Amino acid sequence: MRLSIIGTGYVGLVTGACFAKQGHRVICVDIDPEKIQKINNGISPIYEQGLEELLKTYKDKITATINYQDALENSDVTFLCVGTPSLKDGSIDISYLKEATKQIATILRNKKTWHLIIVKSTVVPGTTQQIVLPLLEQYSGKKVGKDLGLAMNPEFLKEGVAIQDFLQPDRIVFGFYDEPSRNTLRELYKDFTCPLVETSLSAAEMIKYASNAFLATKISFINEIGNLCKHLGIDTYEVATGMGLDSRIGRPFLDSGIGWGGSCFPKDIDALIAWSKEIKEPARIIHSVKEVNAEQPLRLVKILQKHLPTIKGKTIGILGLAFKPDTDDIRDSRAIPIVKELLRKGARIKAYDPQAIGNFKALFPTIEYCASAVDVLSSDAVLITTKWKEFTTLDFKEKIVIDERRLAQAKNAKEYEGVCW
Ligand SMILES: NC(=O)c1ccc[n+]([C@@H]2O[C@H](COP(=O)([O-])OP(=O)(O)OC[C@H]3O[C@@H](n4cnc5c(N)ncnc54)[C@H](O)[C@@H]3O)[C@@H](O)[C@H]2O)c1
Repeated sequence: MRLSIIGTGYVGLVTGACFAKQGHRVICVDIDPEKIQKINNGISPIYEQGLEELLKTYKDKITATINYQDALENSDVTFLCVGTPSLKDGSIDISYLKEATKQIATILRNKKTWHLIIVKSTVVPGTTQQIVLPLLEQYSGKKVGKDLGLAMNPEFLKEGVAIQDFLQPDRIVFGFYDEPSRNTLRELYKDFTCPLVETSLSAAEMIKYASNAFLATKISFINEIGNLCKHLGIDTYEVATGMGLDSRIGRPFLDSGIGWGGSCFPKDIDALIAWSKEIKEPARIIHSVKEVNAEQPLRLVKILQKHLPTIKGKTIGILGLAFKPDTDDIRDSRAIPIVKELLRKGARIKAYDPQAIGNFKALFPTIEYCASAVDVLSSDAVLITTKWKEFTTLDFKEKIVIDERRLAQAKNAKEYEGVCW
């Protein structure tokens, strides 16, 4: 098929590269000319395992442009993958989505053939039908369901393993407005062996939010259990194993630590809370999930103070700045509130992350960044804040080490303690 992808961030670029791998012709569109240039040179503008290799290998199948006209004229299916960031009140900012939709629709006004528009950005239930559809009709002068197709196909990829998640998903969900759209999506995904869940537009939107809210709930739940366990020195990881073997529960997302972050969970939880307010339905569980998460990183600092009562003037090493391993993404990283709290208490910070230093520097330009994990060890105590694999083999050289997650062997640490065990 001939596909265009609007917005080449994590989701758009991974989607484009993976569809190119599957033999489709892909044109990526972004408003950022630097990204476009990089993609056309086979360089990934973001760090994501395997992405650059795909861009290089399939360069004859994937191109990038800032020109909507070119992209729309040379494709039959368009994915909308622009960002939907949080506004101050927690609701999502759909201005990028609206703008992209208007631009697409304006160009489609003069296109003679049927065109399918698929919303892939995460949007609250009702958005595709109540916002995107009317804009498409208004700016194109065409009828959705007749001249244009419309679908909603949420993305469930995890940064760090995004390519694998895209190519081997647990399920593919799409909501469709009309039969031709449904059939086109079935055709597009025909080589995937996972279940295809075909729904209404708003059910597809809700599945995305419900999934992320449930995963965040699992993490906050095990963290709360972990906080209880801590009082008796119970190893929460043993508890999680015992619980997780129950097929109704499952082991994933039961790793207690300093909570969830990243570009999706915090934003999606906030959006769900804001939407529940708007429709006047209480979302009590989701509020609590957020509350537990806000407090959890500060527990790491409290534990540090057990070992190092005076933090003022001390140098604290931070291992891990990304919100999780294998990404350079620091959005809502749990290291952020920890560094803020340590600075507030008068500590000096030495930090290292294999990928995320550049991004973290933009937020904290004055703390010291180290070239390697070993360099961080010349501090008074070390906090492990992201579970990067390279930290598991580190010799901790008689340091006080406080670990957010179970980094099995904090080898040769003088004192070693975890948040939830
Ligand atoms: N990152 C994830 O792990 C993930 C996973 C699932 C779903 N999502 C959702 O997918 C959507 C995109 O997320 P992301 O992380 O890829 O965002 P991102 O911020 O990394 O990328 C968005 C891209 O859209 C571009 N853009 C903005 N306005 C544009 C316009 N009018 N025309 C063309 N390009 C435009 C930006 O320049 C940027 O490159 C969001 O709704 C997000 O919630 C993200």
